[in-house]
Amino acid sequence: MKRHEFVKQFAVGGSLLVAAPFVLASCGKDDDTPEPKPIPPGGIEVDLEASAFAALKSVGGFAYQGDIIIIRQTETVYLAFSKLCTHQQCTVTYSSATGTLPCPCHGSVFTNTGAVQTGPATQSLKRYSTSVAGSKLTIKD
Ligand code: FES
Repeated sequence: MKRHEFVKQFAVGGSLLVAAPFVLASCGKDDDTPEPKPIPPGGIEVDLEASAFAALKSVGGFAYQGDIIIIRQTETVYLAFSKLCTHQQCTVTYSSATGTLPCPCHGSVFTNTGAVQTGPATQSLKRYSTSVAGSKLTIKD
């Protein structure tokens, strides 16, 4: 092997060795899950008459507002959670058939309280309080 070939191979191999700990550290780690953004002190108001929330007209429907998933659980009860899966921050959905929040990325499932039902996630979804007045839904920490 000529000197320049050796140096070239060493440089590539050395780069991989240097990068390996960073690459490995970023895979599959869920203990550094960022906290969802805090809700402003007055809460977030959602106009349930707005077209963006048309899915909430039906029990079992869900919609997103920023990083929050809103679910209409019954005629009068709305649930709100962080939409960010606590595993690696994919957006969770809602299954009205099972009443759970599945994550499409790696199969985690959360109950309708936000608790982990199936991993790999190990931490619950952040749950917010909700109240309804007329067609206004207010979501608070
Ligand atoms: S991001 Fe991995 S299960 Fe949700």
